[in-house]
Amino acid sequence: MTAARPAGGVFVTFEGGDGGGKTTQLRRLAADLRAAGREVVETREPGGAPGAEEIRSLVLEGAAGRWSPVTELLLFNAARRDHLERTVLPALARGAAVLCDRFADSTRVYQSCARDADAPDHSRAHGAGAPDQSSARDADAPDQSSARDAGAPGAAPQMVEALHALVIGMEPDLTLILDLDPELALARGLARGGDETRFERLGLGFHTRIRDGFRALAAAHPARCRLIDARGEPDEVAARVRAAAAAHLPELAGTGAPRAGDATGAPRAEAGTGAPRAEAGTGAPRAGDDA
Ligand code: TYD
Repeated sequence: MTAARPAGGVFVTFEGGDGGGKTTQLRRLAADLRAAGREVVETREPGGAPGAEEIRSLVLEGAAGRWSPVTELLLFNAARRDHLERTVLPALARGAAVLCDRFADSTRVYQSCARDADAPDHSRAHGAGAPDQSSARDADAPDQSSARDAGAPGAAPQMVEALHALVIGMEPDLTLILDLDPELALARGLARGGDETRFERLGLGFHTRIRDGFRALAAAHPARCRLIDARGEPDEVAARVRAAAAAHLPELAGTGAPRAGDATGAPRAEAGTGAPRAEAGTGAPRAGDDA
């Protein structure tokens, strides 16, 4: 049984690769909306509800290869179903804006298209299926990352979609994909003095596939997805996010620092990003956009 989508509320997801700043931007949008008087629920995946957070620990911690790709896919979906039932749907029913850090598009990209999806044997061990990963990984080092984020072969895209249709069955009203060159994302993390070993361990090839996967999704679902140029200062990116979200969240019109082009509700054209064009007047959630 798919999750029934209540009328009311606005469901916005933030997606993209590591280091694109989506968590920062989610918080800023939440603050703007609260300042405008809207109830906001900030949440994340995997997780966002007590049971789903327990599943998060299962799926993101522990030895690489702990779960097969299909088991991992089921765990992400189990967490998502719990999150929807306990957190997202009740909040939408109250009329809240639900801002979610990652959702089903992360599964589409991380569990499927960023992996070696055509690998014939989906039970192969972690790291065996993606030749272009091996140069970036130290095969002898103990690797505490989960199979989710490395070179294991992925679940077949058809399985990812079929499972989603069966047990989740709904899409966000709006998906903001923060798009950043992985080399810039890495440099940004290092500049912050962060520990970017995970990022480096996974390799540029992996992060490039993640980026490409999200860009392909944006192109395939232009009514739902907005590709946000994540270059520049957080204020600049926040202005792009507000502009992209304004069609769904009209209260944003009066918030944030006034910036040229901000009040139009249309994202600025992003040269060279292949960004899907904004559609004017798409304020209503689109049913079946991604079925
Ligand atoms: P997290 O540390 O929260 O990273 P981020 O700040 O980038 O969101 O870890 C979430 C990780 O889980 C991230 O590497 C992406 C991965 N993930 C999947 O592989 N599939 C999914 O369906 C989701 C929601 C996340």
